[in-house]
Amino acid sequence: MDETQIEGDLVNILFTEEQIHARLRELAVEIERDYEGKDILMVGVLRGAVMVMADLARSFGRHVEMDWMAISSYGSGTKSSGVVRILKDLDTDITGRHVLVVEDIIDTGLTLSWLVSNLSSRGPASVEICTLLRKPEALQMAVDVKYVGHDIPNEFVVGYGLDYDERYRNLRCIGTLAPHVYS
Ligand code: PRP
Repeated sequence: MDETQIEGDLVNILFTEEQIHARLRELAVEIERDYEGKDILMVGVLRGAVMVMADLARSFGRHVEMDWMAISSYGSGTKSSGVVRILKDLDTDITGRHVLVVEDIIDTGLTLSWLVSNLSSRGPASVEICTLLRKPEALQMAVDVKYVGHDIPNEFVVGYGLDYDERYRNLRCIGTLAPHVYS
């Protein structure tokens, strides 16, 4: 892929592909240590988490299972309400399972807060969260996140699964979008 074209829409590259992979490998080591002797069910949240899931899962030297959920805010402009609906539920019964939710970014924390409470009501052995990025300044709800790749400023970032109007997800790096693109 010729990345130069879409990379030209970025004002700043926050993390290169190499930096992302290196951080995910570190997180994988930490997770493997914490889950020694336990089976992990990784739950990815579509669509943004696809890249993180693919690379994190392949950083493990052990078996992991993967499943997916697709969720969406109710209606438009209600994202801040934290009211979420399930577009695609898990195929797996998580009763007694160790669930590791995999996310690309935690912004306000509302989605994850809802998701953790939803998953916890299904009787899992544990539910933890791993996110590549988190914006501490944007948090509206405390979410207990066990594994965080990087805390970042409250800026609009794209790439590596993160989109602007469904574009830029396939960018290998993560960067800040130039204002001319969305103004
Ligand atoms: C992003 C991200 C999280 C959510 C975080 O998904 O993947 O699921 O937003 O935001 P919050 O902390 O403010 O709730 P998005 O709704 O953009 O959908 P996508 O994954 O399909 O891009």
